[in-house]
Amino acid sequence: MNISNRVNQLKKSAIHEMTRLSKQYDDVAFLSWAKPTTGTPKHINDAVISAIKNGLTGGYSQSEGLPELRKEIVKKLKRDNNIEANTSQIIVTVGAIEGLAASVMATIDPGDEVILPTPTYSTHITQVRLASGIPVLVPLIEENNFALDTKAIQKAITSKTKAIMFCSPNNPTGTVFSEEYLRKLAEIALENNLTIITDEAYEYFTFDDNKHFSIASIPELRKNVITNYTFTKTYAMTGWRIGYLHADEEILTQVKKVHIPFSICAPVASQYAAIAALKGSQECVEEFRMHYLKTRNLMCERLDNLDSVFQYSKPGGSYLMFPKILGERGNDSFVFSKNLLKEARVSTTPGIEFGPTGENHIRLSFCVPEEMINKAFDRMEKYFGF
Ligand SMILES: Cc1ncc(COP(=O)(O)O)c(C=O)c1O
Repeated sequence: MNISNRVNQLKKSAIHEMTRLSKQYDDVAFLSWAKPTTGTPKHINDAVISAIKNGLTGGYSQSEGLPELRKEIVKKLKRDNNIEANTSQIIVTVGAIEGLAASVMATIDPGDEVILPTPTYSTHITQVRLASGIPVLVPLIEENNFALDTKAIQKAITSKTKAIMFCSPNNPTGTVFSEEYLRKLAEIALENNLTIITDEAYEYFTFDDNKHFSIASIPELRKNVITNYTFTKTYAMTGWRIGYLHADEEILTQVKKVHIPFSICAPVASQYAAIAALKGSQECVEEFRMHYLKTRNLMCERLDNLDSVFQYSKPGGSYLMFPKILGERGNDSFVFSKNLLKEARVSTTPGIEFGPTGENHIRLSFCVPEEMINKAFDRMEKYFGF
């Protein structure tokens, strides 16, 4: 069998292994899903049904996406991200994932280094490896609610560094990187001529005083940023596989050279769904956010009762959190998660999935109904002898 070294080196994902193991049991309490469990809002589904009935969805679209959709995206970027864009700076992608993969491919050559503040979304690390790049993992500051360590990032830069890649709000920690730190990061990128690749999948889900800040809104950074967005989280559209990226025209021309052989264009039916999502009422987004705020608070309350087992920082965004497992039982997070599944029927994601600094942690998702959280924590209290 001929398999490239690039692919051969990739490890099996602990998330998929946990999903496989979870299927062995009935009645598992799932805190491992990072996908919205609510369905896509009805007005979005209805718009696609009528696009299909009108025969609009059978062919390819322009590879960069339908003009009407890109126009709506430009409006949204101005309204919500403070980014002055035009339609020639947008590519509609197959979810944020394809946009991120194309961004990495277009930016780095084999052997180039990409700095990733960790713990981070493991797919980013995989994408760098797939492009034969070298992921350089720089720890976030856990004691400061997993804030960016801009000094450590600066120190990690070498002559081979080409890019910095991150998600904010962060998966798995739920941290919303502050504008102050992101401005520092922007300075570092400009000084060293680095590209910043951002993943803003959870942009609308922020809580308390935390505000989402898009680094691409800094005008001087225009030629250094590729920003990736998605409809997946905002509108509960996981399965539609639709997202978009924004970059300056010069970069975009290059990214498009990757986007085309990977996808030709994003699914056209999904592009009609995206138009309906952007043009329709945004109430559903606020409803989702309020639900996650409620479930975050519940999860934190329930974790407070388990304070001899877990220590946590309250997540300011996303619908994920990343408690530390106290004591020796946390030394192998994969074993910890497997035991929790086997003995208590609670499915979690081992922290090691998100880079070495994720060890001793588990990722918990609160994009589930309140009953699911209560069921999981009732079981954990029993399991840990409370
Ligand atoms: C940070 C982050 N980015 C991207 C994705 C996937 O986005 P999409 O479905 O748009 O490809 C996820 C999904 O869990 C995620 O957590």
